[in-house]
Amino acid sequence: MTVRAILKMGDPRLLRIAQPVTQFDTDELHLLLTDLLDTMHAANGAGLAAPQIGVDLQMVVFGSGQPNPRYPQAPVVPRTVLINPVVTPLGDEEQLDWEGCLSVPGMRGMVPRWGRVRYTGFDVWGEAIDRTVDGFHARVVQHECDHLWGKLYPMRMRDFTQFGFTEVLFPGISAAEDD
Ligand code: NI
Repeated sequence: MTVRAILKMGDPRLLRIAQPVTQFDTDELHLLLTDLLDTMHAANGAGLAAPQIGVDLQMVVFGSGQPNPRYPQAPVVPRTVLINPVVTPLGDEEQLDWEGCLSVPGMRGMVPRWGRVRYTGFDVWGEAIDRTVDGFHARVVQHECDHLWGKLYPMRMRDFTQFGFTEVLFPGISAAEDD
């Protein structure tokens, strides 16, 4: 088990366009997946992208298959590893909701996202993934894949009156769940 350090906003490595994975089912890729999952679980994260631990590859993990302690009301998202993703909006409906990010600790902001998306990509063995999702699942996918294009959620925000410290915005949330 290797819990890796999570880069924070301001680190230029979070602003890169990540490189596509070219070889699947390698020892290196399986080790990277283990590190991503260990790091995400240690931080109670809803998801984590390889660039957040300084790895310049198009790989994200998200979902747990069980309720997330940081988002207990959110629908359950299946545990997913997604490599070389393509995310396509379906329709033009947007939804606004609060997001946090392990690279922007202690803060939350109101972020517009596509309400419904199709995402494709590959798992760690190179098997194709093709899903159509909406709501929270769609939001998580868009947030995590944005990390692969050098975008952090504040860069998607339009109304900065709805951006602030978690402890101020949501006083009931404990410190352990604050990012
Ligand atoms: Ni994030």
